Amino acid sequence: MTGKIAHARAIEILDSRGNPTLKVYVTLSSGVTGAACVPSGASTGENEAVELRDGDAHRYGGKGVLIAAENVNANISSKIAGLDAHDQAKLDQMLRELDGTDNYSKLGANAILGVSMAVARAAATESGQSLYHYLGGQNARVLPVPMMNVLNGGKHAANSVDFQEYMIVPLGAPNFAEALRYGAETYHSLAGILRNRGYGTAVGDEGGFAPNLISNEEACELLVEAITQAGYEPGTDVAIAIDPAASSFYVKGEYDLNRSGQGRRTAEEMCQLYELWTKKYPLVSIEDGLAEMDWKGFAAHTASLGAKIQIVGDDIYVTNTKFIQRGIDTKASNAVLIKLNQIGTVSQTIEAIALCRKAGWNFVISHRSGETEDAFIADFAVAMGGGQIKTGAPCRSERVAKYNRLLEIELELGSKAIFKNPFKVPATTGR
Ligand code: PGA
Ligand code: ZN
Repeated sequence: MTGKIAHARAIEILDSRGNPTLKVYVTLSSGVTGAACVPSGASTGENEAVELRDGDAHRYGGKGVLIAAENVNANISSKIAGLDAHDQAKLDQMLRELDGTDNYSKLGANAILGVSMAVARAAATESGQSLYHYLGGQNARVLPVPMMNVLNGGKHAANSVDFQEYMIVPLGAPNFAEALRYGAETYHSLAGILRNRGYGTAVGDEGGFAPNLISNEEACELLVEAITQAGYEPGTDVAIAIDPAASSFYVKGEYDLNRSGQGRRTAEEMCQLYELWTKKYPLVSIEDGLAEMDWKGFAAHTASLGAKIQIVGDDIYVTNTKFIQRGIDTKASNAVLIKLNQIGTVSQTIEAIALCRKAGWNFVISHRSGETEDAFIADFAVAMGGGQIKTGAPCRSERVAKYNRLLEIELELGSKAIFKNPFKVPATTGR
């Protein structure tokens, strides 16, 4: 009997921050196996699926995942045995029913997602296909433009920068391999600039540098300088994207830029700040410029900049069709950040992407700040064909693993591979 799930096993492993997470191994009746590791966020949205942690203060400060592992081994494995591994939708529906809650708070979204991804891997292997072809069909061939987070602040670094991520976007490259080179060269030129100015070059959770800058805006200036110094044209070859992760500094209805000492701002003032930056810098995308509960602020932000640049919602949508639909109805953004572990299964993630497509919105496949060596999202990005991936700096192996996998995919696709600028409007440098 091929194609049937035989069993699933989970173990507790470490993520890139040294915190426990799950690795799940699924074996099919044919003997084929598939494995997957589950990532973990730090600036999590309030409505994310629940990451089950043991809470036993004697182990990993309460962060152990032995209960989630046991849920796979003792509860899930026997219930999914015999199911067709090639019917992902049915498997994921079964997992939802087994848990019985909306947010996987019973068995843990970490347990559920690990099984969901590992089954997809095993089924791909059994069918003799690469994961991106298995999940995206034989026409899947769009390599994503990477958004590479090279300056870290907020919850991802212990420095003076309020905004979480400043990214470089090598959208003018002819193919993925060249885009990666543009990005890595810019990253190294940024390191040189930081050293020359006496700034530290220690890196944050996603591999970006985390210096004590004097303002949030200085980061944009540094990126333009680094792009130029690497020999690229800002906006044309390499553009900029930011993820302020504004929920993390939203205090009593205002945006508190206290780390950089820049005081409190209203939503309107934040929108004005982004308008100004969009004029001054080659910004093509702003993610979570406003907080997840500030739907009104998001809509105002999109009304002011949505025709020019990509406005992405992360915490506000948590990859959940219920919230994405609300965003579409209220014009809260024009793009969505997609994270498998925010919603819990591969099928629900694909449903969220289908909704984006239906609305004509962009979507960006994303890593988490706590990652592993698993490069599932590289294949997933090509399978979904959205043309964008956000997976950190070209540094730290858990980030580079995704980029290196994309190099392999591009090689495998050969002349069939497509790499193109996904941004409707070219970046304006305004200079
Ligand atoms: P997280 O950060 O994984 O800590 O949530 C990534 C992001 O906000 O996009
Ligand atoms: Zn984000």
